[in-house]
Amino acid sequence: MDAFVIHGGKRLKGTVRVSGSKNASLPLMAAALLTEEPMTLRDVPHLSDIGNMVSLLRELGCEIEHGDDHVMTMRVTDEMNSHARYDVVRTMRASICVLGPLLAKRGEAKVSMPGGCAIGDRPVDLHLRGMEALGAEVTLDGGDIHVKAKKLRGARIFLGGPFGSTVLGTANVMSAAVLAEGTTVIEQAACEPEVVDLADMLTSMGANISGAGTPRLIIEGVKELKGVDHRVIADRIEAGTLIMGAAITNGDVKIENCPLDTLTAAMDRLNAIGVTAEPVEHADNPMRCTVSVGSARRLEPISVTTQPHPGFPTDLQAQLMALLTLADGNSMVTEKIFPERFLHVAELARMGAKCYRQGPTVMVSGVKKLTAAPVMASDLRASAGLVLAGMAAKGVTKVNRVYHLDRGYERLEEKLRGIGAEIERVAE
Ligand code: EPZ
Repeated sequence: MDAFVIHGGKRLKGTVRVSGSKNASLPLMAAALLTEEPMTLRDVPHLSDIGNMVSLLRELGCEIEHGDDHVMTMRVTDEMNSHARYDVVRTMRASICVLGPLLAKRGEAKVSMPGGCAIGDRPVDLHLRGMEALGAEVTLDGGDIHVKAKKLRGARIFLGGPFGSTVLGTANVMSAAVLAEGTTVIEQAACEPEVVDLADMLTSMGANISGAGTPRLIIEGVKELKGVDHRVIADRIEAGTLIMGAAITNGDVKIENCPLDTLTAAMDRLNAIGVTAEPVEHADNPMRCTVSVGSARRLEPISVTTQPHPGFPTDLQAQLMALLTLADGNSMVTEKIFPERFLHVAELARMGAKCYRQGPTVMVSGVKKLTAAPVMASDLRASAGLVLAGMAAKGVTKVNRVYHLDRGYERLEEKLRGIGAEIERVAE
């Protein structure tokens, strides 16, 4: 198992590029199952979660190449197997993305029920409610979700749950509804940019979808979809992580391919802390702008609550908390999407952070400095928060088990080294 060794205290300086989005790529890849025509995806990052999805889609009869140039070509050549096995699903929960496309195209799917994960219980009841509303019969068989339908029919579906909408649930139901007969209306659909990207691609494939990016999606079913050549949106979470990396080291960094327009809530909170991110070029194309990040010497404490998009993203909560450990005062961080997503709290404490948790809220009492220590977290974003803390702490921090980071950040250590961090990957 690899670890990162970080010699902290270096200011980040220079230019770094944001990769294509992991969380957009996964449902886009699964949508290849909806057509027999070839599909090309551009700017697909090389990550272990993407590799897992490639393996799953190959098992489901899809031929795939993923080049060093980040271009992925895909084509379904065999529709015989519609079973996403436990061995695959337990390595990656996002395997659930194949449920809707398989049901719509092949009339049947078996997907192993995803178990809990490090960030809490993660039920899929809303996904199943959507499939049922479209006319599928849903059963549980030996730990597998089995969905079956001779024909899917459009329906009015409410996808709100106790913690808001569901991102992959919306992707799944939308991907099934595009081939259903008649009109589907999804109420309380997720508004995340990754859902919009999927709707855009499905539309280019011949689907009829309106309302993407709003809580009401309207889908008129079509008979079939064609192939497509599509560029994946930039990764807003990687961009936010890099912005906070610049801020926590009091750095001065240019971030290319930064989807600043999808980071409004994050920038609102970062501005309140004293961090600025100004678009410096391509201002006419905010999806792919370059931003110049700087921060005040003194970081202000703030309150923040994670929410569905366009609110502050849960996937940036750990990184923001790392930054707030060095603010001048007490901050409040409330997690409203995954109330147990606090694996980083105890690890940050090992570095001298003062965090007090009560249920879904953590009070972060800023300290003057963090001290280096060996740390570890079993969640992707928690690990990213620890890397940021390690870059700010004087001394040598070792972040263990970086395979979590490899699931969602492409060559993070190389990117950070390119802008001045002293960080190395070591084999354990
Ligand atoms: C997506 O997960 C992302 N994953 C997550 O990113 C992200 O944290 C999450 O959305 C929220 O933004 C991918 O895109 C691959 P949800 P998803 O269904 O879709 C509850 C990362 O670090 N819920 O929107 O699985 C659920 O428990 C990952 O990159 C139900 O109650 O999340 C949670 O409280 C981690 N029933 C809330 O809804 C359901 O059927 C939102 O979850 C589904 C979800």
